[in-house]
Amino acid sequence: MTPAERIIHLREEINYHLYRYHVLDAPVISDAEYDALFRQLVELEAVHPDLVTPDSPTQRAGAAPLDAFAKVVHPAPILSLSNAFNEADLRAWRARIGRLLPPDTELDYVVEPKIDGLSVVLTYRDGLFVQGATRGNGEEGEDVTQNLRTIGRLPRRIPVQRNGRPAPPYLVVRGEVYFPLDKFEHFNNALLEAGERTYMNPRNAAAGSLRQLDSRITAARPLSLLCYDFIAWEGVDIPRQWDRLAYLREMGFPVSPDVSYCATLDEVARAYEAWLPRRNTINYEVDGIVVKINDRVLADTLGYVGREPRGAIATKFPAQEKTTKFLALNVNVGRTGVLAPNAVLEPVEIGGVIVQNATLHNFDEIARKDIRLGDTVLVKRAGDVIPYVVGPVLELRDGTEQVIQLPTHCPFCQEPVVRIPGEVAIYCDNPTCPEQLVRRIEYFVSRGAMDIETFGSQTAVLLIEKGLIKDVADVYFLKREALLSLEGYKEKKVDNLLAGIQASRERPPERLLTALGIRFVGSVVAGLLLQDLGGIDEMAAADQVRLESIEGIGPQTAAAVVAWFRDERNQKLLDKLRAAGLRFRKEQATIPA
Ligand code: IVH
Repeated sequence: MTPAERIIHLREEINYHLYRYHVLDAPVISDAEYDALFRQLVELEAVHPDLVTPDSPTQRAGAAPLDAFAKVVHPAPILSLSNAFNEADLRAWRARIGRLLPPDTELDYVVEPKIDGLSVVLTYRDGLFVQGATRGNGEEGEDVTQNLRTIGRLPRRIPVQRNGRPAPPYLVVRGEVYFPLDKFEHFNNALLEAGERTYMNPRNAAAGSLRQLDSRITAARPLSLLCYDFIAWEGVDIPRQWDRLAYLREMGFPVSPDVSYCATLDEVARAYEAWLPRRNTINYEVDGIVVKINDRVLADTLGYVGREPRGAIATKFPAQEKTTKFLALNVNVGRTGVLAPNAVLEPVEIGGVIVQNATLHNFDEIARKDIRLGDTVLVKRAGDVIPYVVGPVLELRDGTEQVIQLPTHCPFCQEPVVRIPGEVAIYCDNPTCPEQLVRRIEYFVSRGAMDIETFGSQTAVLLIEKGLIKDVADVYFLKREALLSLEGYKEKKVDNLLAGIQASRERPPERLLTALGIRFVGSVVAGLLLQDLGGIDEMAAADQVRLESIEGIGPQTAAAVVAWFRDERNQKLLDKLRAAGLRFRKEQATIPA
């Protein structure tokens, strides 16, 4: 291949991956692999500057927006950042810009976490949030104002300042929307249980959640936001990045507390080192630091290379992904019977942790990525999220790999499994499957539900095994003597357990409703339903139309609720829970006489 052909080929490949990443939210290669491709192109173009064209991906920031949202033209181009990968790259950057500045120019810097989320552009007029957009292609993004309004941390209005100064007449803030890591796993499980496609990683979950055409769906997702700059303004003039962050904070915008001021490049290098062990302790994915020249006026005089300003640089952390052998397939069963495939791996150290299990998401994903038993696979770890299999390394196949067969029977109760048309999940449909019951009880007693701290997973397994529990309501009918007869259950332990169960009888009905584990009915939806209907029995009496009339309840949820209450087994369960003395109704507000 000639360099010209190689460049064209790389561009096509990169554009395809940009499209998969930015438009479809479904990347097929890892960020590190993408970076490597991009670097190859940058290097080739550097050697052959005559082959650089304005439409090369090195010259632009993202991919074309979807058609479904209105377009928003940004007041200034939404720039991207060039990458450094280590301290040497960082020093090379300083040397490069040094040559463009008067000799002996001293620089100071601001170091910020590089939040791996979705870039957003927030417009405020006279202090009021009037429009929010995605980055799109850098010139033009998508209008996601309604969706952004659902994010709790986004100020809808900039308050009048304490010093009496009014909000600026015009301010366009740049920030990053992200999916908190501690919510991601739970959320993905909920999607899977609902038979929906899961998200590959928190970044895609953020993008997918923000780009919903129905903002009620966005509202139900725990999106968060951090802001770090303004790109257009009137009535404010803040030339230093450090002061801009302080100003944003003062105006009520969420700003990362993990930013630091560095007087020298040595301090920047130390800040980078200090970040490495910390990156996994933050509740969002941090894929590097952003180093910005504090003096933004001076930084702007340095200009751009393509879409990348010279005055700032992202310094990436080493990739938290490794390749290893996929040794065996493990299938778990969730509380709704969903079969969840997991990969047993040859142990491998990733980012300081030994990884020997990784999620394969679902069987559709396995087929789509053609992951085979015995494959060498790329495994990624992001924050505290369960590691996941990115895909197979095809070049390393030797022909002994085996295609994974879809399970035909539940690995726990041996009953045949079912597939619901249009859903990605495979289910165990057996209502008495002991594994499902364990998962249902775990969920029933968990924190957002009935919150019985003394009731652990092992207790659930043991009680089910001994036949003392056949459904979640049996938790409330456990006898002291029966518990005392169990191995390892002494008086104190039994009393603790019973006290925990007793205390949970007082939980408000929205907790009970959540604990029932009806599809699509998490704590937020449970709250909405009971707010309107007042009680669980009223819900049982409500039909599809009545349920859909409730603000925030869509047809899918309404249908799931109707189906759940129609099932005779569930009606019996409710009778038992009522007999246990649990609270079915919200407290009546006393109307003042
Ligand atoms: S500054 C000219 N600061 O990373 C200024 N970007 O690869 C360019 N990002 O598109 C952006 N955290 O979406 C900046 N503290 C931060 C950031 C940040 C995350 C994202 C942003 C940008 C991408 C560049």
